[in-house]
Amino acid sequence: MIIKNKFHNIFWNIYAFFYDNLTLYYPAYYRQLNQIYSLIKNYLNKDSIVLDFGCGTGGLLKIIEKEAGYIVGVDRSFVMVNRAKRKVNKSLFVIADANNLLPFKKESFSLITAINSLYMLINPEKTIQDFYSSLKFNGRLIISNPLWKPSILKIVKALFKDEGIVRGLKLFFRLFLVGLLNIFITEEFKKEVFHSYSEEELTNILERIGFRIETITRTYILNSNILVCAVKLPPFPPAGWKEGKRENSKG
Ligand SMILES: C[S@@+](CC[C@H](N)C(=O)[O-])C[C@H]1O[C@@H](n2cnc3c(N)ncnc32)[C@H](O)[C@@H]1O
Repeated sequence: MIIKNKFHNIFWNIYAFFYDNLTLYYPAYYRQLNQIYSLIKNYLNKDSIVLDFGCGTGGLLKIIEKEAGYIVGVDRSFVMVNRAKRKVNKSLFVIADANNLLPFKKESFSLITAINSLYMLINPEKTIQDFYSSLKFNGRLIISNPLWKPSILKIVKALFKDEGIVRGLKLFFRLFLVGLLNIFITEEFKKEVFHSYSEEELTNILERIGFRIETITRTYILNSNILVCAVKLPPFPPAGWKEGKRENSKG
């Protein structure tokens, strides 16, 4: 597993050189970001402290930087982070591997986003627990994650269906290298090294950890991703609480 994890690190650093072909030219990608922005803009103000987990080349941070109070991008890939730094002025960037503990204090953030960045973790549930402790009470967690194992063939067909033959062909060649790298990702899904979740599975995980689901919709090409907004509830009853009488109760 350690060797595999090192290999994944190399993979994301290589992918970083081509990733902006996706963020700039792939319509399904920027439509997804717009949908996410519509969802989170209600939680952005000068007091909001936002963590974008697996921030990649900073696509989402760039969109929200004017409205959020303070933004932090975390990613294991230093190449992704270097590219994000060129786009986003206001953010603090941290290079960290979420397969280890994330380096944030309890209750630091009012909003955490994890956009296409949970599925590749060894234990996504453990990282969602870390998100729970890093979020303030009433803070929101936004996750976009694949519902099913992606299929390159279905995605290419959908590209031509949505964009037509001429634009579809242009995009196909522009995104060719990204497509090749995605073959590796689909293989990891097939081997169940990467994780897709049904609505029910992700809801159960989030509720078990202490979140309440606020909204749950679909996004990305072919509605292949689940998009969840969950709120952190305070632990209830509080740790150490025991059922008993009120001190001043009579009888
Ligand atoms: C598919 S990209 C998504 C990037 C961005 N969230 C977006 O939607 O454009 C996945 C990102 O997660 C990062 N990543 C993968 N494994 C990670 C880990 N164990 N810890 C932190 N970041 C990780 C990768 O380096 C990559 O930038």
